[in-house]
Amino acid sequence: MPLVYLNGDYLPLEEARVSVLDRGFVFGDGVYEVIPVYDRRPFRLAEHLARLQASLEGIRLANPHTRAEWEGRILRIVEAAEWEDMGVYLQVTRGPAPRDHAFPKQLRQTVFIMASPLTAPPRALVEEGVCAVTAADNRWLRCDIKAIALLPNVLLRQLAADAGCAETILIRDGYLTEGAASNIFAVKDGVVLAPPKSNLMLPGITYDVVLEIARGQGIPVEVRPVAEAEVRAADELWLTSSTKEVMAVTRLDGRPVGEGRPGPVFRAMHAAYQVFKHTVMRGKAQA
Ligand code: PDD
Repeated sequence: MPLVYLNGDYLPLEEARVSVLDRGFVFGDGVYEVIPVYDRRPFRLAEHLARLQASLEGIRLANPHTRAEWEGRILRIVEAAEWEDMGVYLQVTRGPAPRDHAFPKQLRQTVFIMASPLTAPPRALVEEGVCAVTAADNRWLRCDIKAIALLPNVLLRQLAADAGCAETILIRDGYLTEGAASNIFAVKDGVVLAPPKSNLMLPGITYDVVLEIARGQGIPVEVRPVAEAEVRAADELWLTSSTKEVMAVTRLDGRPVGEGRPGPVFRAMHAAYQVFKHTVMRGKAQA
């Protein structure tokens, strides 16, 4: 039974309990992070904790812990886990209080941390790519906050699941924003196109890693708004996230993307990403 952290205690997952009046349960009033851990080393932990801070500020919730306290708690969960590679999920809610939309006078944040096994995408998926569908991005205008209130993302991702696909690529006012639970890149004529960070997308940690790798490898990058027509005419589409790393989208709305196979720029990026990750795992580089 995996060990989890809940409000100061380390306990088996089955024993962890929160109040039904928790504002996370009643209002979806909280924020979260998902941190990949390779060989028991959290990847880009400082960046994830910085984004957590930004999300907390975005919902006007005080950070219950210092950076060092977060690190200590996360590492303890990682050490107790039965896997070498895992995803650490953490969430902070505005805690239990009588139901009232306005913030409670007495704040007691709920802090929860758990780990679950993380397996790299299977070889076949990396070599063949995945399919995606498109949908209108009907979420709120603070998609930069990693809020636990994910109902729009859940409904949008289900459109992909209904079609037997991996992701729903979101279009707002004619432009690409991101995926239901990933960031999206397009490649045209060898140039990687990435939508700029804004309130309309989550600033992905993997997005940053991919842009860093591209620049380090001399792959041309343009960070600029990407029109829906460019998504549909792309030679390659990629999705990135902490749990899926970088994957090629080879079919979109039932039509092949480019030649319908993971393209050369994807293959270079995927290989470089693995090297980058493994270098971090061996502790040879500060990630
Ligand atoms: N989701 N955009 C959205 C809407 C996301 O939910 C995620 C990640 C990303 C990618 O961000 P990162 O590279 O930092 O993981 C982009 C996580 C994995 C989840 O909800 O499980």
